[in-house]
Amino acid sequence: MTVRRVLRMGDPRLLQIAQPVREFGSKDLKSLIEDMFDTMEDYDGAGLAAPQIGVPKRVVIFGVDNNPRYPEADQVPTTVLINPEITVSSLKKESGWEGCLSVPGMRGRVDRYAQIRYRGYDLQGNEIEREANGFHARVVQHECDHLDGILYPARISDMRYFGFEEVLFPEFGENEQTKAAPLE
Ligand code: NI
Repeated sequence: MTVRRVLRMGDPRLLQIAQPVREFGSKDLKSLIEDMFDTMEDYDGAGLAAPQIGVPKRVVIFGVDNNPRYPEADQVPTTVLINPEITVSSLKKESGWEGCLSVPGMRGRVDRYAQIRYRGYDLQGNEIEREANGFHARVVQHECDHLDGILYPARISDMRYFGFEEVLFPEFGENEQTKAAPLE
């Protein structure tokens, strides 16, 4: 088990386009995914993309399962998604608060497609195809953006809704802030 350091905004590695995985089921891929889960759990995140730990591969993980930090969040199945592709099911967008382990202490409101279909592969190369909406769809769009070098602040359309979480959500205690703004 290895908790890896999460790169922070400003690191040029977060701006790279990640490369597709060509070989499934390998020891290296398995160990990358294990490290990603260890890291996501250590940072109490809802998702993580491989570029955030400095690995430029198209691998994301996510999952929210009755996490006390996200009581308002819909459940999101714990998923390894490799070489993901997203198609938009409807052009309707929803605005919601996001945060990112690479942008610690900040939150911003981002418009995301409300309903998507995503496909990709698991560790062994089995195909995954799902419909998602709400928070689940938001997490997938946020994580997949990392694979194209996009951090959520670049998606904020109204910068008045970008700030420090402790200032934006003073009504919550230090450990409660993410309840108002669940993501990563
Ligand atoms: Ni992120």
